[in-house]
Amino acid sequence: MDAVDDETRWHALAEQARGCRDCPIGLLGTRMVWGEGPLRPALMLVGEQPGDQEDHQGRPFVGPAGRLLDRALAQLQWPRERLYVTNAVKHFKFEWRGQRRLHKTPAQREAAICAQWLQGELDTVRPGAIVALGATAARALLGPQATVSGLRGRWTTRPADGLPVLVTLHPSALLRLHAGEREPAYVRWLDDLKLASDRLVAGGRPDTGAALKLTNEKGGGP
Ligand code: URA
Repeated sequence: MDAVDDETRWHALAEQARGCRDCPIGLLGTRMVWGEGPLRPALMLVGEQPGDQEDHQGRPFVGPAGRLLDRALAQLQWPRERLYVTNAVKHFKFEWRGQRRLHKTPAQREAAICAQWLQGELDTVRPGAIVALGATAARALLGPQATVSGLRGRWTTRPADGLPVLVTLHPSALLRLHAGEREPAYVRWLDDLKLASDRLVAGGRPDTGAALKLTNEKGGGP
């Protein structure tokens, strides 16, 4: 399958995911947030699920966790436009607390149902390697036994397709720490991420030709 076919399939999958109501999160009727970035990137970053800001803007990692991620990417000199950034779960799971929508962790069953969409992105985007940010991403990519504490900071091979996966903390985990703990934890997180730097220095995969930029231009729809 060439890049043009994959791009067509990528758009078709995003369209199908927009209408997905296979689990209760889809039934919340919030915006579906698909991934964005080039086809055939050296790295795909996978988070948990969109948050409030991502749900509003229809783009992954644009809220507080995304700002911390952007700070790390800038320090690592990883241009975000060369990465494919997405989430294991495509809808924002939340509960109302007064006027605010508070994040709720997706249940394993919900993440398992959503895995079809992440798999569709993997099949069409075809990254060289994956960075799993947090437990939901690690489980979605490596199976239900995967834990961040057990796998953090080293490359693991994905049994399904042999893709290298680097597991580390989700940036929100750092944001939850007290101010004094946050900076050392951030430095350790950067050290984890640095393990993937050589892949970006090497660039995209040599067999793939020009990378195509895909965005959520159409918005996520409800
Ligand atoms: N947290 C995530 O896991 N993904 C986002 O896109 C935003 C916050």
